[in-house]
Amino acid sequence: MAKAKTVFFCNECGQESPKWLGQCPGCKEWNTFVEEKITPIKVKQHNIGLERNEPKKLSDIHMLDDKRITTGINELDRVLGGGIVIGSLVLVGGDPGIGKSTLLLQMCKSLADNNKKVLYISGEESLKQIKIRAERLNVNGNNLLLLCETNLTNIEEIVKKDIPDVMIIDSIQTMFKEDISSAPGSVSQVREVTNILMQLAKGLNISTFIVGHVTKDGSIAGPRVLEHMVDTVLYFEGDRHASYRILRGVKNRYGSTNEIGVFEMRDKGLVEVSNPSELMLTGRPTGVSGSVVSCSLEGTRPMLVEVQALISQTNFGMPRRTATGTDYNRVVLLMAVLEKRLGMQLASCDAYVNIAGGIKINEPALDLGIIMSIASSFKNQPINSRTLVFGEVGLTGEVRAVNMAEQRVIEASKLGFDTCIIPKANMKNLKIPKEVKVFGVENVNEALGLCR
Ligand SMILES: Nc1ncnc2c1ncn2[C@@H]1O[C@H](COP(=O)(O)OP(=O)(O)OP(=O)(O)O)[C@@H](O)[C@H]1O
Ligand SMILES: [Mg+2]
Repeated sequence: MAKAKTVFFCNECGQESPKWLGQCPGCKEWNTFVEEKITPIKVKQHNIGLERNEPKKLSDIHMLDDKRITTGINELDRVLGGGIVIGSLVLVGGDPGIGKSTLLLQMCKSLADNNKKVLYISGEESLKQIKIRAERLNVNGNNLLLLCETNLTNIEEIVKKDIPDVMIIDSIQTMFKEDISSAPGSVSQVREVTNILMQLAKGLNISTFIVGHVTKDGSIAGPRVLEHMVDTVLYFEGDRHASYRILRGVKNRYGSTNEIGVFEMRDKGLVEVSNPSELMLTGRPTGVSGSVVSCSLEGTRPMLVEVQALISQTNFGMPRRTATGTDYNRVVLLMAVLEKRLGMQLASCDAYVNIAGGIKINEPALDLGIIMSIASSFKNQPINSRTLVFGEVGLTGEVRAVNMAEQRVIEASKLGFDTCIIPKANMKNLKIPKEVKVFGVENVNEALGLCR
């Protein structure tokens, strides 16, 4: 047997090094290298389903008839690009307890109801625990098979004997292959296990969902190591204190990555939220300064969000600036624009900017909203609560066009907004409902003038 050798892996990006390093040269993270013993194993050729590996003409490759399986959960389908692609490998990442197992179990239910054979493999929970969750989520059915297993060799055998349509691996960090001496969850295990799962998925046309935990403590390899190996990467995120969850596509070989899916966590499981704007604006204060509604576009769907700002006199020499839910540097830049172009004395003020509801948005269309909320709080002048504001702001204070302005205005009108302040460049050929008054502005000064 070949001698085991020791190598070091970066837990964040999977960079390999013969020696321990303080900073990873790949991802520049500090203190992420961990030692692992690896036994060199012979690479076996897995080419299940392929007789010979020879070049083939593109026109000779035949697709399966029904390319996608719908999951029965519209928000999930949307993020996947219209359903599950047969034989694809999807990684679902997210913080502990965010609801990954819940979402996948709910997906299993609708797939099983549609006569798809589903195999749910859990390495973290006992069958009883899964049953308790299934009872709560009202999941049952004969097409749904559960398996508690962590040894990949056994899983391979079972899967090859009775090929399922869809397979769930919960989670990748608990699975192991005996040939590799390092512990489950280590970079080399996770990589090898994913590799084998990929061969299984592609060779036997099993759509596979892999759950991956994101931890910072360093003992478990983050799913970022496998991001390049899988077809689709979905992140499940959300505020611990809020009940809604957002499913975001980070990488997708079969669809757009702009789409998001919005869910609400209830005791009966995750419920789809088809109108997220309404959810984001619930509990919004009216008639107070520092609050303004702006619109962000997530994929093809506009979403209204409330931008809040609090500007107060600083008590220390160094003013504090914080940005929650948006880019800190962008907020600092926009404050500089306000200072220079409008002469607002913000240097002696603390500034706190928050996108209400715990959602994270980095779209430049929110710039004008951020500017208006800061100005509103600074002057202590409330902005009409039925006014929508959006537009990208440049360094000279000009308001630049954003895409799909029409959809944004229509979304606002649906929710009872009667005034919109939008970039002037977007005013051309705008077809909008009659009951909304739309003002096109060229610069920040003009926009603020409208709210005086
Ligand atoms: N009875 C309940 N009522 C409402 N919400 C519940 C209930 N039971 C569980 N939850 C929610 O479900 C979450 C756990 O979901 P789930 O087990 O799917 O998460 P997970 O992402 O798979 O977690 P892990 O990383 O531990 O596997 C809890 O954090 C909680 O928010
Ligand atoms: Mg889980």
